[in-house]
Amino acid sequence: MRILMVCLGNICRSPLAEGVLVEKIKEKGLDWEVDSAGTSSYHIGERPDPRSIETAELNGIDIRGQRARQVRKKDFVAFDLIYAMDRSNYNHLVALAGDSEGVDKVKLILDEGYPGENREVPDPYWNNRFDEVFNLLSHSCEQIIRKYT
Ligand code: 4NP
Repeated sequence: MRILMVCLGNICRSPLAEGVLVEKIKEKGLDWEVDSAGTSSYHIGERPDPRSIETAELNGIDIRGQRARQVRKKDFVAFDLIYAMDRSNYNHLVALAGDSEGVDKVKLILDEGYPGENREVPDPYWNNRFDEVFNLLSHSCEQIIRKYT
């Protein structure tokens, strides 16, 4: 599996999603490719937000090596699944996808962990709820691995 995690800035939520999934696939010995990107260009080249780095670190995960990048059209070829953190990211990705094959790859990540609940990962950039974000993503990444192994 090749999985891309996407949020707005690629500094808070999707770096955590990438870090959590990478950690879990390492534990399982899976040969999956995982990356993350932002729909915006605001933070290109930056490290994850210090609060995401700290939250990951408290859970034994090192995401300091990540750098923000913007999602691009060729990601729809390079990846099998593209997970949006919220509906705004989802709508942006669907508009960028171009064809139905691309659109079919785009999913809301919390639909994996919390099917039928229509949940979104809250943006912690302003509200500081990084622990809540981590827990939502951790549960959903467990379910992704269960589903595709
Ligand atoms: P993210 O959080 O999309 O989870 O990386 C944000 C990061 C930056 C901004 C908004 C959300 N911003 O407005 O700069």
